[in-house]
Amino acid sequence: MQDKFEEIRQKALSDISKTDTMRSLLEIKAAYVGKNGSIRALLRGMKDIPADERAAFGKIVNDLNDQVTALFEDKEAILKEKELNEKYKSQAVDITLPGKKPQSGSLHPLNIVKNEILNAFIGMGFEIFEGPEIESDYYCFQALNIPKDHPARDMQDTFYFTDNILLRTHTSPGQVRTMEIKKPPIKILSPGRVYRADDDASHSPMFHQIEGLVVDKGISLCDLKGLLDEFVQTVFDDDTKTRFRPSYFPFTEPSVEVDVTCCKCHGEGCSLCKGTGWIEILGAGIVNKKVLEMSGIDSEKYSGLAFGLGIERVAMIKFGIPNIRTLFESNLKFLRQFNRR
Ligand code: PHE
Repeated sequence: MQDKFEEIRQKALSDISKTDTMRSLLEIKAAYVGKNGSIRALLRGMKDIPADERAAFGKIVNDLNDQVTALFEDKEAILKEKELNEKYKSQAVDITLPGKKPQSGSLHPLNIVKNEILNAFIGMGFEIFEGPEIESDYYCFQALNIPKDHPARDMQDTFYFTDNILLRTHTSPGQVRTMEIKKPPIKILSPGRVYRADDDASHSPMFHQIEGLVVDKGISLCDLKGLLDEFVQTVFDDDTKTRFRPSYFPFTEPSVEVDVTCCKCHGEGCSLCKGTGWIEILGAGIVNKKVLEMSGIDSEKYSGLAFGLGIERVAMIKFGIPNIRTLFESNLKFLRQFNRR
C-alpha cells in the first residue's frame, strides 16, 4: 500500500513539474484531488479495508491528499506570478516614447492681415459695412462715375451674369451703398471678396479688398495721409512711411497711388521693392464730387476721402510671399508657419 501512495505522490510531482500553464495544472489537479480524482478513489476503497486498519489508512490517505494539494498550490502560485509578469510585460507602456501633440488650428494669413487692418481702422473710429458680392452695374460702375463704355471699365474686366448683374470688381460699391443710407459724418470700412478676369503670380480671379470711406466737412488729402500713416505703422513697422503718387480713378479727384517704405530693407532698396525702397500698396483719393452728388450728398457742404487696398497684396508684402496662389492652396506646411501660439 505504501508503495502505491508513494507512486501517486511521485507521479503527481512529475506531472506538476511538466505543466507550465494554469489551465492544464487545474486539469491535472482535478485528476488527483478532485471529486473523481485518484486520491478520492482511494478513500472510497476504505470500506474494503479491515476495520482496525481503517483509521491508519484514512490518515495516510488524508496526509497524501494534503501533500499533493500543497504541491499543486505551490505550483499554482508560481504560474500565477508568471502569468502576471507576462501580462505586465505585454501591456507595458514605454514612457520614454515622445508624446502625441494635439494639432491646433490657426488663423489663415489672409485673416491675420485682414484683422490687423480692420483693427487699425476700428481704432480710429471706423465702422464695418459689408456689401454684396453680386452687384449691379449701377453700384459697381455707373454710380462711381464709370459710365457704360467708359475705357476705365477695361481695367476691371469681370464676370457677368446678365448685362446688368455681375461679380463686383472692387469694394468701392460699398461707398455708394453707405452714402445712400447714411448721413455724414461717415467713417466706414467695406471688406470682402472681389472678382476680376486676371490671373498671374500676383493676381487671382478672386481676391479680397478693404474699402475705406470718410465723408465729413473739410475732409482733405491731409486727412488721408494721416489715416494711412497710422494704418501702415500699425500693420508694418513703426517707422514705415507713405508717399503719394498722382494717379487716376474715375471716382476720386485727385487720385493717388500710395507707396510704403519697403518693410524688408526699410527704404534702402532690395529684391522685394525692386531696388526702389518703396512698394505700392493701395489706391486712394478725394471722392469725386459727381459721386457724392449721385449718392445724395451735398458736395458743397461735404467732402470725402476713399481708399481701396488688396488684402492679398498686404499679406504678400508683410510676409514676403512671392506667389499669390500660395494663399489659396490650403497647403498645411505653408499655413502652419502662421500658427503663432
Ligand atoms: N477701387 C479701386 C481699385 O479696386 C481702389 C480705390 C478705392 C481707389 C477707393 C480709389 C479710391 O483699384
